[in-house]
Amino acid sequence: MKLIDPMDFSNDPLLSNIQGNILKGHGRDYTTHIFLQFQKGKEKTASAWIGIYLAEKVTSFKKQLWERERFKRNRVPGGIFTGLFLTAAGYAYLGMPEVDTKLDDKAFLDGMKKRLPITCDPDPKDWEQGFRKEAHAMILLADDNVARMELAAREIVELSEGFATVVAVEYGNVIRNENGDGIEHFGYVDGISQPLFLKDEVDEWMKFHNADPKAPKDHPSSPKFDPTADTDLVLVKDPYTDEPDSFGSYFVFRKLEQNVKGFKEAEEDLELGELGGAYLVGRFEDGSPVVLTDDEGLIGAGNYNNFNYGNTPQAVVASASRCPYFAHIRKTNPRDNKIPDGKRVLPVMARRGIPFGQRDKKTAIAPCKEEFPEKGVGLLFMSYQRSIEDQFEVIQHNMANNPDFPNPIPGAPGTGVDAIIGQLKDQHPAKHEYQFPAHYGKPALTARLPFTQFVTMKGGEYFFTPSIPFLRSL
Ligand code: HEM
Repeated sequence: MKLIDPMDFSNDPLLSNIQGNILKGHGRDYTTHIFLQFQKGKEKTASAWIGIYLAEKVTSFKKQLWERERFKRNRVPGGIFTGLFLTAAGYAYLGMPEVDTKLDDKAFLDGMKKRLPITCDPDPKDWEQGFRKEAHAMILLADDNVARMELAAREIVELSEGFATVVAVEYGNVIRNENGDGIEHFGYVDGISQPLFLKDEVDEWMKFHNADPKAPKDHPSSPKFDPTADTDLVLVKDPYTDEPDSFGSYFVFRKLEQNVKGFKEAEEDLELGELGGAYLVGRFEDGSPVVLTDDEGLIGAGNYNNFNYGNTPQAVVASASRCPYFAHIRKTNPRDNKIPDGKRVLPVMARRGIPFGQRDKKTAIAPCKEEFPEKGVGLLFMSYQRSIEDQFEVIQHNMANNPDFPNPIPGAPGTGVDAIIGQLKDQHPAKHEYQFPAHYGKPALTARLPFTQFVTMKGGEYFFTPSIPFLRSL
């Protein structure tokens, strides 16, 4: 397992050449996402603009780490973060040769619109207008200082006038609960479970969970779940530069609208109290994993991640009476370390999503349910991976959209699609029926209870995150 130690100077070239945010989130509270389509006949200008102007703005991972260190020591916040992403059409526009063979992820080459048979997304004619158009590039700006971010966005848009058209702009903003933990709009702490690539992060994780990776397997301090990840999970050699240690990453962007009022009402109709939502998500709102507890308030719940769903088929079945198979976090990560047949990599991604949309009532104060929004808020889902086909699409298609996954007892009836993001072909919103544990931890199940989908995909695209030496070479 190759963990990155930022204190080891031999890692310097790699850290300087890859863009930030891939191996660790940038951590800023506000984001702007500018989707550009370059104009025909302006290839040279667009290319020079990226090479001379944008490449110098893009935040390397080394700079991000340095800013993290400065914040830890002196509480000095980092400056603006800039990232740049290109679609397959963008690479073709810039005249890069043999895109089909050099960046040979089929999903990336097709683009998101052509992958509906796999993702079961709504028809692009129902997407938001901007996303129906072809994008060549996306620029990500992130900052804690909104005014500075807006100024930077304006500068980029003004300087690209004449050779690029802005097809869409999206804004993200972190929302928090009363503990200060980042949540998504249904109210649940998000961003807890991540693959960890840095040595100091893994050490911190083990310390927080009182776990010792060297302890014998059956010892109480042996970790129940290992977040340690090899950089191979997300990094791909950048095929368009000869500079050593230059890597990029495939990137998924999806705008997912959340009907919060609908979700909260449906949750209440289940008549299972707080447990109802916990069964759907796999965690209580404060982050406590429902497989470990039937109540909120676990100390450190907003970070807690040291658990699994059992290591034998019997244990896997037994744990479903505490965390159903259709629970979002169980569907999307069954924690069994299995690479699906015919795939090359574990279906785990580095998730970097941020909520979008404004709430006029503070999320840190429990609002009354009439005030929950039905539209205009949601999640800008983003993820980095080595393969969109084998990671994001396996998770969305083979796992979340698959009512028979996971199924430890061959031939047993399916338990339903992912309760939060499962999608069925031509059914938007998807309507499901689930059997919940009638009593926490006991095998008896409730009758089948209806639950409708409250997440709607409004548009998105597949990108590659090029290395900085490639961008400079343009
Ligand atoms: C975890 C919400 C979309 C994959 C979580 C968690 C929440 C959540 C509350 C638990 C916090 C954590 O462990 O980090 C949502 C909402 C979504 C959404 C509200 C849409 C609006 C997606 C999508 C995918 C996805 C589209 C992938 C196809 C995951 C994964 C985890 C996770 C892999 C971590 C599971 C684990 O390791 O235990 N999500 N999510 N989510 N979500 Fe989502």
